[in-house]
Amino acid sequence: MKEIGGYFELELPKGKEYHQKAIRLNTGRNAFEYILRAKSYTKVYLPYYTCDVMLEPINKLNLKYDFYPIDSTFNPIFDFSLIKENDVFVYTNYFGICDGQVKILSKKCKNLIIDNSQAFYSKPLSGIDTFYSARKFFGVPDGAYLFTDKELEEDFERDFSYKRFEHLLGRMDVNAESFYTSFKRNDKALENQPIKIMSKLTQRILQSIDYEEAKRIRSNNFQTLHKSLEKMNLLNFELEKNAVPMVYPLLIENGLEEKKRLIENKIFIATYWPNVFRWVDKNSYEYKLTESLLPLPIDQRYEKNVMNEIISVLI
Ligand SMILES: Cc1ncc(COP(=O)(O)O)c(C=O)c1O
Repeated sequence: MKEIGGYFELELPKGKEYHQKAIRLNTGRNAFEYILRAKSYTKVYLPYYTCDVMLEPINKLNLKYDFYPIDSTFNPIFDFSLIKENDVFVYTNYFGICDGQVKILSKKCKNLIIDNSQAFYSKPLSGIDTFYSARKFFGVPDGAYLFTDKELEEDFERDFSYKRFEHLLGRMDVNAESFYTSFKRNDKALENQPIKIMSKLTQRILQSIDYEEAKRIRSNNFQTLHKSLEKMNLLNFELEKNAVPMVYPLLIENGLEEKKRLIENKIFIATYWPNVFRWVDKNSYEYKLTESLLPLPIDQRYEKNVMNEIISVLI
């Protein structure tokens, strides 16, 4: 029976999710597992330059896998004739700036999965299995969207997220540093979970976001940083017209020192991805990206003045 009256729940504006036609799941890695199972793939080609949680479903399903390198334009260095009927090739839309690479790949690679964890706004291409992870772009602890033409017949349990909100609430009430341990703990709690349906709480929050406004701010912030930092950026990229990046990726020779300086100025910079140091050779491009690429924040929390602060630390 429906519960009526009594105490209130959290109140949020009610709008629409960005990916309304997607399958809603608990995490990106579980969306990846869903595709691997639905398509009965037996071997996976993964980029060296990705997050190690992508191995969770591969190991759980006991699949074979191999890594491939990327070049300085984030394109795979790979012989696509290697892909057999039950093999699949995974490509990451890095930082949300690789829509062009995704389009080209979709034409030349037969069994393809697009990992749009870093490209929430990039629409899926027709017929291409594509997944998203909401927490990289918005204040939710979990949640993923999946587009695929093959649905699993199972009835998955629904996830509950309410115990994983402490860092989100604590950052808002106190500050980020005090709740960093809580963030790590809640991140860890997503490990080795079964495929679940997205929690009602996460979905409800994702219905309350002003996606157009977040998009506008992200695009403007990206352009502000790009105008000032383009000359020092070793990355050469062309942003597609509608792209909405996750961060501004700045690659410089002394990235490690600059990262320390940014952090001293309380500009928190992630490392994508520490596991790559273990997977590749010191002389590889992936090692350089992991060590020296600065993913600068451009998200909807910040306006131009904050971008200028970031620029002033770097120049
Ligand atoms: C590139 C990439 N793909 C997939 C994932 C997995 O997403 P989730 O944490 O929602 O499982 C992550 C990060 O965790 C990621 O960085």
